[in-house]
Amino acid sequence: MVRTVYVNGEYLPESEGKISIFDRGFLFADGVYEVTAVVKGRLVDHDSHMQRLARSLQELRMGWPCTRAELDAMHLELIRRNRLEEGIIYMQVTRGAADRSFNFPKEAVKPTLVAFTQTMNLVNNPNAVTGIKVITTPDLRWARRDIKTVMLLAPSLGKQEAYEKGCQEAWMVENGRVTEGTSSNAYIVKGGKVVTRGLSNEILAGCTRRALLRLASEYGIEIEERAFTPEEAYGADEAFLTSASQFVMPIVEVDGHRIGGGQPGPVVRKLREIYLEEAGK
Ligand code: PDD
Repeated sequence: MVRTVYVNGEYLPESEGKISIFDRGFLFADGVYEVTAVVKGRLVDHDSHMQRLARSLQELRMGWPCTRAELDAMHLELIRRNRLEEGIIYMQVTRGAADRSFNFPKEAVKPTLVAFTQTMNLVNNPNAVTGIKVITTPDLRWARRDIKTVMLLAPSLGKQEAYEKGCQEAWMVENGRVTEGTSSNAYIVKGGKVVTRGLSNEILAGCTRRALLRLASEYGIEIEERAFTPEEAYGADEAFLTSASQFVMPIVEVDGHRIGGGQPGPVVRKLREIYLEEAGK
């Protein structure tokens, strides 16, 4: 089955989805994106992703490519056309195409909107059984990480470094403290308490994080929002990450230090279970 993608109002076979070489997303990374999980053919935390998209667009003074209702319909149509049961929808908005100039285009240009699906094993991801390994690496990103821009070179380099060291994710470190993963939020568990960095311009406000913190408090699991050091992580009882494409993922090694005896611990297993229950509804 040939994948159907969405490009500026049209549904096309993936080989026909094309954008201009003058697109500012391509030339300046002048674009924002969202990745939304799909489980049982339904969107997970969709409203949260759309709220964050609205904020990203506003922070960059970028226009909406269409209405919210049209965006919702487009997501559903991509699921339908691709018969997507489980995976993600990637969508990207850029400021549009204009002759190259650092300034915003003088004439009004239409924002570019593209989206596509990827089939993925989210619920029965085998990594969730074994847990994954992470390294730490310096955080080389800009100062507005709260905006979900497509400027992903530093995260890409970090993730590649992790893969080359036999790990699946890199936790980025700034001023001696973990900010977040290259494509996920970071957590440790100590004495039954979950520790994760508080929201600021230094990290992305994860939609999965938001849902998880709500669920955790409903289940009486204590959360402490503060930054932690890699050394604290080495000595933690448990560690994990969250993202739309991994949900709640146990971490069993940080920089070669085994966490919790190298097995996913009880708190992360419980949190994954309650998040999956919610996501599957
Ligand atoms: N990344 N922090 C960063 C830097 C991220 O890129 C992501 C998501 C998150 C988690 O946010 P959420 O829970 O809303 O997915 C945190 C997506 C999945 C990606 O780039 O593929």
